[in-house]
Amino acid sequence: MKQPLSVSIEPMRLADLEEVMRIDQRSYPVPWKKEAYLTELANRAAAYFVARSADRIMGYSGEWVIMDEAHITTLACEPLYRGRRVGEKLLTALIEEAQVRRASHITLEVREGNLPAQKLYEKYGFEPVGIRRSYYSDNGENAIVMWVSDILQPAFQQKLQQRKQLW
Ligand SMILES: CC(C)(COP(=O)(O)OP(=O)(O)OC[C@H]1O[C@@H](n2cnc3c(N)ncnc32)[C@H](O)[C@@H]1OP(=O)(O)O)[C@@H](O)C(=O)NCCC(=O)NCCS
Repeated sequence: MKQPLSVSIEPMRLADLEEVMRIDQRSYPVPWKKEAYLTELANRAAAYFVARSADRIMGYSGEWVIMDEAHITTLACEPLYRGRRVGEKLLTALIEEAQVRRASHITLEVREGNLPAQKLYEKYGFEPVGIRRSYYSDNGENAIVMWVSDILQPAFQQKLQQRKQLW
């Protein structure tokens, strides 16, 4: 593991979109259009974060929280700064925001071939619970549905705090 990068995690703002979209374009085969981000930033059920270091954005993440379920919609880091715990911090921000909004579980879809992301989610207690066949329109790849439950329980909270101490 490379040296962790010192970043501050902050709510995503309109002014961040240019940099966020640049990382999006370098991270996903089908990046979001600006309108999608604008809709999400206005959505009260959504929470979006950026990781900032020395005035540069190094990554971003987002989720919806509806009733007791959070659904991670996106997570990506600047390619040159991957492997430096930025993804982990952005995922933790999503988990903690889900807890604040009283969600008890979190779900997401991840490409079958995306092992780095799967490993990251597993590290935080997510488990595969199903497959959505040909979910991704660009190449027909399957999505693995992952899920973590009981995030409001003390045992989960304790593990999360232990992980944070290793940063
Ligand atoms: C997935 C992603 C967000 C991870 O961010 P990152 O900052 O590079 O990851 P971190 O440094 O925080 O790594 C944390 C954990 O993730 C896993 N991980 C990260 N990169 C990995 C890799 N190349 N191979 C295997 N596991 C990896 C490991 O479990 C790691 O913990 P460990 O070092 O203690 O084993 C990043 O690779 C990315 O932006 N990918 C492109 C977009 C994407 O795939 N997003 C997820 C969509 S579902």
